[in-house]
Amino acid sequence: MERKLQVGIIGATGMIGQKFITLLKDHPWFEVKLVAASKKSAGVTYEEAVKGRWKMKEDIPASVRKLIVKDGESVEEICMEVDFVFCAISLNKEETKLLEEAYAKHETPVISNNSANRYVEDVPMLIPEINYNHIDIINEQRKRLRTKRGFIAVKPNCSIQSYVPAITPLLNQGVESILACTYQAISGAGKKLSDYPQLIDNVIPYISGEEEKSEKEPLKIWGSIKNNKIVNASNPIITTQCVRVPVEDGHLAAVYFNLKNKISKEDILRAWEEYKIPDVVASLPSTPRKFLRYLKEEDRPQTRLDRDYENGMGITIGRLRDDSLFDYKFISVSHNTVRGAAGGGILSAELLYKTGYINKK
Ligand SMILES: NC(=O)c1ccc[n+]([C@@H]2O[C@H](COP(=O)([O-])OP(=O)(O)OC[C@H]3O[C@@H](n4cnc5c(N)ncnc54)[C@H](OP(=O)(O)O)[C@@H]3O)[C@@H](O)[C@H]2O)c1
Repeated sequence: MERKLQVGIIGATGMIGQKFITLLKDHPWFEVKLVAASKKSAGVTYEEAVKGRWKMKEDIPASVRKLIVKDGESVEEICMEVDFVFCAISLNKEETKLLEEAYAKHETPVISNNSANRYVEDVPMLIPEINYNHIDIINEQRKRLRTKRGFIAVKPNCSIQSYVPAITPLLNQGVESILACTYQAISGAGKKLSDYPQLIDNVIPYISGEEEKSEKEPLKIWGSIKNNKIVNASNPIITTQCVRVPVEDGHLAAVYFNLKNKISKEDILRAWEEYKIPDVVASLPSTPRKFLRYLKEEDRPQTRLDRDYENGMGITIGRLRDDSLFDYKFISVSHNTVRGAAGGGILSAELLYKTGYINKK
């Protein structure tokens, strides 16, 4: 049997690292070969390292339990063992940027969940169903890093994944402005409800850095490659409010928008229904069969009922209505740790493998 690509998870003991490990169990192309975390978790088996802090519903996969956790900063040693890495770490931006570049410079592709490299002009920030063609910028990045194999690709912030997919099919009608209020799950903070007593019977109207990311990142996703860099789209104008709510998983967005060429509600529903995923993405193992679905019931989507749509990789939209200030409004839901983090990272890696940017060493 042909060997699968050997994968390292950097930040394997955290919320998103655990999600990667769970989602990669039985993956047809990738196999978790190595787990790494901070120095304080290194040197013991993975099951010992996550004892008392395993947050997934599923058990730790047997193939990972006994792996010895490495220090994520032992870059050279790790790069000798794996074909590429997923990185999801809680380290400051400057150190994260340097660490990710160190992996890339050791000829090991990095698929990152961290924000440190998101705004670098030659680093693709991918939602494959929307901007898969941004992967072409990797050739320019390799020139800058002087690598043959190594590069960094990132995934956008989880907050934007509920509304950017829903707005994308409408961009050709000239979306001029968007107001998005997001109601975000606790797992987005790497926690469970039981670890977060401040959220019981409460909502918290502040998530550090989230509104800035939510307003900036869609413009890169909707940007294009010009003069060997990704140039952000210049519109629409986006304003957001991001609120933490007592929900375990799933981000819900209340979205308002104006169109230059106002179209009917039926046309918007048709644009969502007919949104076509590029062929190269449609055939990947983690691609949802139907990326966008619209529910007609007046009390949907709901976070708990709809976050797992398409194994957590699809987006559910509902309540499309006229608005008194904007042209229209709607509600949408996505799974923050799957679509918005580990699942989105795995889908990007599948795309990069299929298109030859990631291969076996
Ligand atoms: N949670 C979400 O929904 C979500 C969504 C999108 C993106 N993200 C991003 O993903 C990243 C991780 O988030 P999280 O929620 O999983 O955080 P987390 O639960 O706090 O986990 C952080 C992980 O980073 C490891 N780590 C810390 N310093 C390290 C170092 N120097 N070298 C290697 N590993 C190191 C930790 O290891 P120890 O256990 O040894 O401390 C742990 O495994 C963050 O950048 C976050 O913004 C999170």
